[in-house]
Amino acid sequence: MDRRKFVKTTAVAGAIAAVPNSVWSALSGLGGDELERKIKGLLPQLSLDEKISLMSGVLGNTAKEIATGAFRPGQGHGYTGYTVGVERLGIPQVKCLDGPRGVGFFYKTTCFPVGIGRGATFDPALEEKVGAAAGYETRALGANMLLAPCINLLWHPRWGRAQESYGEDTHHLGMMGAAFTRGVQQHVMACPKHYAVNNVEDTRTTVDAVVDERMLREVFTPHFHKCIEAQAATVMSSYNHLNGPKAGQNKHLIREILKQDWGFDGFVVSDWGSAMDDGVQAANAGLDLEMPTGKFYGAKLKAAVDEGKAPVAAIDEAVTRMLRQLFRFVGPDYDQGYTQKNIAGPEHTALAREVARKSMVLLKNEGQVLPFTGIKSLAVLGRLAEQDNLGDHGSSRVTPPYKVTILQGLKKNASGIKLSYSASATEAEALAKNADAVVVIAGLDFNDEGEGHDRKVMGLSEEQIELIKTAAAANKRCAVVLVGGSAITMEGWVEQVPALLMAWYPGMEGGNALAEILLGQANPSGKLPIVFPQREDQLFPFENKAAKVEYKGFHGYRWFENKGLKPLFPFGFGLSYTEFKFGNLKLSGKSIPKSGKLTVSVDVANIGERAGEEVAQLYVGYPGSVVERPVKELKGFQRIALDPGQTKTVTFELSARDLAYYDTVKSAWQVEESGYNVYVGPSSLKEDLLMGSFKVSGA
Ligand code: GLC
Repeated sequence: MDRRKFVKTTAVAGAIAAVPNSVWSALSGLGGDELERKIKGLLPQLSLDEKISLMSGVLGNTAKEIATGAFRPGQGHGYTGYTVGVERLGIPQVKCLDGPRGVGFFYKTTCFPVGIGRGATFDPALEEKVGAAAGYETRALGANMLLAPCINLLWHPRWGRAQESYGEDTHHLGMMGAAFTRGVQQHVMACPKHYAVNNVEDTRTTVDAVVDERMLREVFTPHFHKCIEAQAATVMSSYNHLNGPKAGQNKHLIREILKQDWGFDGFVVSDWGSAMDDGVQAANAGLDLEMPTGKFYGAKLKAAVDEGKAPVAAIDEAVTRMLRQLFRFVGPDYDQGYTQKNIAGPEHTALAREVARKSMVLLKNEGQVLPFTGIKSLAVLGRLAEQDNLGDHGSSRVTPPYKVTILQGLKKNASGIKLSYSASATEAEALAKNADAVVVIAGLDFNDEGEGHDRKVMGLSEEQIELIKTAAAANKRCAVVLVGGSAITMEGWVEQVPALLMAWYPGMEGGNALAEILLGQANPSGKLPIVFPQREDQLFPFENKAAKVEYKGFHGYRWFENKGLKPLFPFGFGLSYTEFKFGNLKLSGKSIPKSGKLTVSVDVANIGERAGEEVAQLYVGYPGSVVERPVKELKGFQRIALDPGQTKTVTFELSARDLAYYDTVKSAWQVEESGYNVYVGPSSLKEDLLMGSFKVSGA
């Protein structure tokens, strides 16, 4: 089927309409045992060649061909990769498109804020809507698989693709990634990636990540497990080696943990090229689909099967898993009910703007410099104010039909305020001096960080630092807005700046959203999904050149708290234009059994003058643990909206099994009968938290 003929006629009410998977399988008349029977009946009808063709990708069109619309008939159909399917048996093609920020590959689609900005919303319900919108657009373009979410755990803030992930904490990553997965899978197959321990870019295809079993189970994979629990149809294996074998042919990672321990019934797709180096090992390890071509599968795997080196059982397993997901998602009416008019339409772009608003994190606001109310003139400084700065230009890139730069957003929303702008430091002082307020836009762009290249430094360029200092000296009402995909260090200037906001890469509507916040039309409510260090030397070294990297100990806020270090801004931190107060912490009991649950509640009051949203966070500490554990770990969070004077009670349910550690001797999760601390508050900062204690005792 040539995609170009793929024109939708029937509009669908509500492009983000929820269409649960059960409806699709009902539509396709398949599900459960009936589906399994159908697949069993199909297998003997497939030749070995056909089976292996289902496991071997065909390279989609090149980005240039997509950009110019030069689809080569019979080649690619405009997808990142696809399989040929088996038309005579009604077996659909797999058709993939990237990525975590929206549908990529030069289609004119909705460009959302990057993953880490969406992570800063701490709002899984909102993230599910983003997934649904991206899934809808994927399907409206004729594909059936979106290569997202990216849930790599952010081990070190200089990792080049930090922007694509949601952050550093496995509980938070899992909640956000599972939400996105649920959203996407209202329409197409999702593909949580990159499984697992892919934490550097410079050596991403060659590095051997060495991790002990406890770290693998407790730190690097639980968020993938949450996506499997959300019924993810596929998982993408990563490029790196893991304890020797490449992740794409790592039997422990794929067959033992993912498929056996977690009961994953979907299929594992390799990352694009060089995700394996031995097709037989990969087939035995449980890699089901090689993308973007059958370099190690295809004819080589066929020969290996013919020579008895690769078991037909592995081939049949891979085909079974792929058919199970294809029939689950691609029913006979797959092409109906989707219209390309909804791609980057008003619903999705309004969602992009809402997410951008909720992603931005107010880090400083001394003397209530923000919002810029009551001003008649505003100086805007820094080249990033007018630059197209949507994020990385790698596989996560999205090219929307329009984008609102920060300067455009201010021009559109700052009625009655005279704006002046300069990208250069020479005019900065005069402009800053002669305006009622000044805002400096500084930070990073795709040259500084992205797929295939890690960030070289953690701070800003000297030129940007000078610009900030000049502006702060020239006008007390000075705010700095940072754009970027990860933590940025701020030595030498942050003390001089009274107001500071982290905007991430806020997407196609980012300029509007930022203007709404700076001008007080919206109240900032984001929280940091990663810790911001004062200096890079507070962290462990970033090993992105070594051939082998051992991942051990703690990272992120766990590192800072274990070392007793003070970060610049803590994990979970974010201010508001109003003020919230936490109180009345209650635990449902002093002790629960290992099979039990504890209910924790806290009252949150808006004691300020304007409506706002707060994120209540629940952490657990293990003072009596017999094994080494972090000082505390995030185990729950809830975003709540409060009008001025309003108080709401937030309730968390904590299962004892959520407190388990992985016992590598018993190869099992262990819940300790011990004392635990519960901390609840607006950030991970100890001074912000209310504390309670309880015991786990008995079965
Ligand atoms: C890339 C990325 C992966 C992407 C794939 C297809 O190498 O690692 O995230 O989905 O190729 O573009």
